[in-house]
Amino acid sequence: MKHSRGPTLHSDLSFSAIPGTLGIDFGTSNSAVSWADGTESSRLIALEGEANTLPTALFFDAETQRTHFGREALALYLAGHEGRLMRSLKSLLGSPLLLERTSINHTSVSFQDIIGLFLRELVLRAGAQLGGLPRRLVLGRPVHFVDDDPERDDLAQRMLRQVAEPLGFEDISFQLEPIAAALDYERRLQHERTVLVVDIGGGTSDFTVVRLGPERVMQADRQSDILATSGVHIGGTDFDKQLSLAQLMPLLGYKNTGPDGREVPSRPFIDLSTWHLIHWQQSPKAIRDAQALRVNFTDASLHDRLMKVLREQLGHGLAHSVEQAKIACSNGAPLQHMDLSLVALGLSAEMTSSALAEHLHLLLAQVVACAQGCVQQAGLKPSQIDAIYLTGGSSALQPLQLALRQAFAQAELVTGDLFGGVAAGLAYSI
Ligand SMILES: Nc1ncnc2c1ncn2[C@@H]1O[C@H](COP(=O)(O)OP(=O)(O)OP(=O)(O)O)[C@@H](O)[C@H]1O
Ligand SMILES: [Mg+2]
Repeated sequence: MKHSRGPTLHSDLSFSAIPGTLGIDFGTSNSAVSWADGTESSRLIALEGEANTLPTALFFDAETQRTHFGREALALYLAGHEGRLMRSLKSLLGSPLLLERTSINHTSVSFQDIIGLFLRELVLRAGAQLGGLPRRLVLGRPVHFVDDDPERDDLAQRMLRQVAEPLGFEDISFQLEPIAAALDYERRLQHERTVLVVDIGGGTSDFTVVRLGPERVMQADRQSDILATSGVHIGGTDFDKQLSLAQLMPLLGYKNTGPDGREVPSRPFIDLSTWHLIHWQQSPKAIRDAQALRVNFTDASLHDRLMKVLREQLGHGLAHSVEQAKIACSNGAPLQHMDLSLVALGLSAEMTSSALAEHLHLLLAQVVACAQGCVQQAGLKPSQIDAIYLTGGSSALQPLQLALRQAFAQAELVTGDLFGGVAAGLAYSI
């Protein structure tokens, strides 16, 4: 690849300028980066070894004081290294929690700073692969960062822009994630189609109804081809939460009744099941509050389990087991065991494909209703959709695909690049 060398733009990152556009899909669970120079297809960038994605995870190692990213971060945490794991940071955009400060290796930083560290790492890795960085950055954004609150939604985008500004790009713009996915899919189409793009990720479900086709690709203004967009703040991390509360948390005391006949307070269990809140349950105050709940438990051994999870910071490990069991059942395994022997000897929880269908039913109904709303907003009947283009990791969920087939019986279900489609399309955005 040949690049014209320009002046160094990204001074802090020490990269020279190359032509084209960088697209960053900063995802709740996984992030991806692409580059296009306008002459050929966009290129997804290898971010961790050969992989084109970097799980949106950081691990601050207490012993070495080093910061690790992606799969490496998860592996170190799961191997029991002393330190702090951060995941699902995108869910904090638009929330006051983003500005809260936390102590990392004896330094106080905000969660916004931590997102900054992650984006910087993405850009560093991209720059190293490309041998430079373009002046133009397109960041993906969900249709709604925050549901039913336009002010907080705007705030979320402003917060993300603020985080990206110090990276040194001259021009930063945003593109809706489902539209980016559509632009990527369009490159593979032989003839014109009306498509419902379904992007179900870790944090949000986003939809767009678009007219796509080989003749339309090169048109500068695509606004008239975008018939509708919609989105709802439900994604894989919500599925994990629901499944954790149903299948795992009861083993730590959730929904148990105390000596007074009342249910044990649910807060610690809900936070432990919510990826972006797990971290708060491991603070000294939360641990003291949970300790005080002992009188609310009839069975003290359940309280012992809860306290062990909090004190030994096992929360992310439990959430990870739930997620892995969900994925295995979604991929066809009828039964999965979640090993909880770190909590209590011989303890395990179960996940089944029928539990998946049962516990996710209500959330999936909301997701499908949002898809139907998008088609209605486009002024079309479900039968006028030629194809449903699936992207985002959670679009692989079997019960979801079943529900979509029922709602759009005539449409062809096309599975795209689940983890790279949005990033690939971002670099085409104008
Ligand atoms: N085979 C599978 N079946 C069901 N869910 C899956 C499967 N594979 C991955 N997932 C889920 O997909 C989600 C991650 O998808 P993806 O990487 O597309 O999200 P994201 O882009 O990070 O999130 P968002 O776009 O909402 O910000 C996780 O919740 C993960 O558990
Ligand atoms: Mg996504």
